[in-house]
Amino acid sequence: MEKTLVLIKPDAFGKNHAGDILKLYEDAGFKIIAAKVMKMTAELAAKHYVEHIGRPYYPALVEFMTSAPIMALVLGGDNVIKKVREINGATNPAEAAEGTIRKLYAEDKTKNAVHASDSEKSAAREIPIFFSACEIFD
Ligand code: CDP
Ligand code: MG
Repeated sequence: MEKTLVLIKPDAFGKNHAGDILKLYEDAGFKIIAAKVMKMTAELAAKHYVEHIGRPYYPALVEFMTSAPIMALVLGGDNVIKKVREINGATNPAEAAEGTIRKLYAEDKTKNAVHASDSEKSAAREIPIFFSACEIFD
């Protein structure tokens, strides 16, 4: 089964939108095959966002991602990587399509509600940062 890593970020999780967001993924036919609530450390953020280190927004991104709990998920299903990126919408909520999670729940282009892996390679790299094999039920 194809898998992707999703993070419900501190803004959306803190505003009690986890249930709304999970419903959108489940209604699209995807299975929640791993889930946990956790607080990201700066070390974990650096590992997850390694390709963004040095970008102007990076310090604010780490500050935000470590500010409060997140919900980490592995979702599984056909074409889940591409479909979940579509359900999430554009990085900048001002550019996100109607009905997408970022249009519905994101505040701005940093506090943008959700993360999802952007390719098979990213999913394979990102999932083990958050979950051990025995925590994933596929
Ligand atoms: O999350 P996504 O793959 O859509 O976007 P990205 O370009 O890979 O950037 C990762 C994350 O960095 C975004 O989701 C934002 O939270 C943050 N970011 C930001 O704060 N300002 C930007 N100009 C670009 C990204
Ligand atoms: Mg990305």
